[in-house]
This record gives sequence, C-alpha cells and structure tokens, in this order.
Amino acid sequence: MHRDIDLWVFIKDELDTTHERRMFCIYFVANKITMRFFNLTAIFICIVFITSFTSNNQKTAPNLDAQIGRLFFYDTRLSINKTKSCASCHDPKLAFTDGELTPKGALGDVVRRNTPTLINLADNETFNWADEKITSLQLQSNIPLFGKHPIEMGNDSTDNSTLQFAFSDKMYLPLLQQKRIERLNWSMVKDFIAEYVGQLKFHNAKYDLWKNGKVKLSKDELAGKKLFFGDKLNCRKCHSGNDFDEPEFTRMNQYQNIGLYNIGKDSIYANGDNGLENETKDRDDIGKFKIPTLRNIAITAPYFHDGSAASLDEVISHYARGGRLIEKGKFAGDGKLHPNKNQFIEGFTITEKEKKQLISFLNTLTDTSYLKNAFYRNPFQAN
Ligand code: HEC
Ligand code: HEC
Repeated sequence: MHRDIDLWVFIKDELDTTHERRMFCIYFVANKITMRFFNLTAIFICIVFITSFTSNNQKTAPNLDAQIGRLFFYDTRLSINKTKSCASCHDPKLAFTDGELTPKGALGDVVRRNTPTLINLADNETFNWADEKITSLQLQSNIPLFGKHPIEMGNDSTDNSTLQFAFSDKMYLPLLQQKRIERLNWSMVKDFIAEYVGQLKFHNAKYDLWKNGKVKLSKDELAGKKLFFGDKLNCRKCHSGNDFDEPEFTRMNQYQNIGLYNIGKDSIYANGDNGLENETKDRDDIGKFKIPTLRNIAITAPYFHDGSAASLDEVISHYARGGRLIEKGKFAGDGKLHPNKNQFIEGFTITEKEKKQLISFLNTLTDTSYLKNAFYRNPFQAN
C-alpha cells in the first residue's frame, strides 16, 4: 500500500488536469494488462480513474506555507520604506507583470529589464531573463529583496528583525501559530513566497479549453494557429511546449538572440545589457535572452527583455523583417545582421490580415480566470 500512496501523491501533485490524470491511469492499467499483471495497484488506479470523472479540476486547498507566502508576496512591509511588494511589479491583474517598460525600485532606481509574468514558471530550470545560475525561485527572490544595483526592495539579508512584524498581524499570526513558528528569518520567508509562486499554474485559457474539446476556435484563431505552428513563421521552433517557452528541439538552447540590437563594432545590445554574455563573458552569448512564455501575452505588454516593443503588432513586424533596424541615436544598428542571431529568425512576408489572425491566436492564450479566486488577489486590499 505504501507504493500506492506514493502513486497517489504523484497523481495528485504532478498531474495538473483531470485529463492528464485520466491519460496516466489508462496508460498505467493498459501496461499492467499487457504484462498480465493485474494486481491491487491496478485496481487502485482504476478507482482513481473513476473518481477523476466525478472530482472537479481543482487541486487541493493551498497548503499553509503557500498561504503564508501569499501574505508576504503582497506585503509592502517587505521593502525598506514599505512601498513595494513583489506584487507591485507582479500584479495579478496583468498576469503578474506591471505594464511598465522597466519598473522602478522602492527608492526610485530604474530596474534594467521588463517584468516577466510569474504564471506557470515554477517548474522551469532557470529563472530571470538571462542568468543560468538562477536555478530556484529562492535565488531569484534574492535579487529584488536584497539587490543593491539597483535597489528594488532594499532589505538587509542579515537583519531578520524586520520580519517579526508578522507576529503582531492578525492575518499572519494564526497561520504562523499553526506551523508553530516563533521567529521568522529570510530563508523561511523566501521558501514561503516560493510556495505561493509555485501555485500560480493556470491552464484554463481558451486555447486549453479548445484542446480539451470544450470550446471552438474561430476561423481567424485557427488560421492564426496554423501560421504560428507553420514553417513560414517558425514561431514554434522556439515557443514550443505547453507554455510556449521552450525550443522545439532539445538540442537548441533556451537562450536565443533574435536580432533586437546590433550596436557598434562589437555588436552589443542596448543599455549595456548583453544578456547571457553578462554572466558568461563569451562573445557568442551577446544578445541571448531566455525564450519567454507566450501565455497571457495579450495582457503583458510592453514586450521583450527591455520592454522595447509596445504591441504585438510591433513584435510581429520585428520577426517579419528578420531583425530590428534602429536607424539613428545611440542604439543605431541593424539587428538583422547580428552575428549571434538564431537561424530561424529569417524574416517572412505577412499580410495585414494574417497578422490579425496571428494576434487572434495569441489572444486565445489569455487566462485570467484565477482572479475569481481570492487566493490569487491581494489580501491587503479590498477588491
Ligand atoms: C521593482 C520590481 C520588481 C519587484 C519588487 C519584484 N520583481 Fe520579480 N522581476 C522583476 C523583473 C524586472 C524581473 C526580470 C529580472 C531579470 O531578468 O533581470 C523579475 C523576475 C522575476 C522572476 C523570474 C521570472 C522568469 O521568467 O524567470 C521571478 C520568479 C520573480 N521575479 C519573482 C519575484 C518575487 C517573489 C518578488 C518579491 C520577493 C519579486 N519578484 C519582486 C521585477 C520585480
Ligand atoms: C529563435 C527563437 C525564436 C523564434 C523563432 C521566435 N521567438 Fe519569440 N522570442 C524569443 C526570445 C529569445 C524572446 C525574448 C527576446 C528578448 O527579449 O531579448 C522572444 C520574445 C517574444 C515575444 C515577447 C514576449 C515577452 O513576454 O516580452 C513575443 C510576443 C514573441 N516572442 C512571439 C513570437 C512569434 C509570434 C514568433 C513567430 C513569428 C516568434 N516569437 C519566434 C525566441 C524566438
């Protein structure tokens, strides 16, 4: 029975949708039958399969850690002057982005990059636009919480005393008591926040509903989908997988140069931000940034690592040209000719009608249904 419990934990935690759970059960039982090995475990799995028809699609109630993490995520007391929380930049209404080109920290410092969405990323191997060393949500949190260049939230990582306010707050106290916590430190707080961010997994966009046979896509949406996955535009070469954030072929890197800049003889990128090269110091990495998810793309403008494209129209024009031309000013240069540009950014012709169709398809990736659930909204605001 011990193995059955492990199996149950796996089904419950790792398989997100009823559909995935059913497919796993069918596969598992079929496997047992072909091996003429129909035992207790197989019967148990059949029961899981049957109950998955009656259970709804929701996962179990969020655990205590995630509930505590939720409070910290939205709490401006986690910044030096009590003005910024994680949610100041990662607003649930904008799919956990902020609508800014690049955001400002608590003391007004400009943050160099555009704020990415936090949805469906907890299982990623690396975080951040261009730093392979950031392999956990906790490591990523160090940057806004404690970073000095720029200052984002401006905390001192060696000073745990600032966290003890939670024990005199009636929202935190019962949760901390249930966990029998008597003193908080930053490491615990980062773990709690990571638990919360880990809960931000949503696959109820129109596109998902269509995949599960629940709704139809319009003619334009279907035409846009065909363009997206087709060989003329090549989008799928990089934006593949369930969240459109991984290369189609595993041998291709997660970090790619798509020809946004090409400044001076060294082909550098704007604002001294050369992406992956900042860390590796390898010239071949100049301009390489992580392939971002396209989920909720309709509501996460402006686009690219520095917010330099205002609309999806602009993004598509960039790809259609095969790289961006900046004619004058300090960023002048032709990104199309960047030596590190990926081979799939070749340029293509696209009519206005096709552009609209492609955007209609991208719009089917929007899912804000989670906003109905208070757990994904700010607990300190009546909304
Ligand atoms: C001042 C705005 C700001 C604040 C405050 C902020 N973030 Fe971010 N966040 C960003 C930006 C900008 C990036 C992209 C950073 C980069 O790539 O250099 C980012 C990246 C991330 C990522 C990586 C996303 C990805 O696609 O890999 C995670 C996770 C994240 N933030 C979580 C948090 C958490 C948790 C907090 C609170 C502890 C927080 N952020 C506070 C602006 C902010
Ligand atoms: C060679 C890989 C590659 C191909 C092909 C590709 N993309 Fe991208 N895409 C990326 C990378 C990498 C970024 C981030 C670049 C940056 O900001 O420096 C990106 C960014 C984007 C963004 C902005 C996302 C955000 O959150 O800011 C959109 C939208 C997008 N791509 C759509 C498309 C579409 C539509 C196509 C097909 C026409 C396409 N991509 C083809 C790799 C690719």
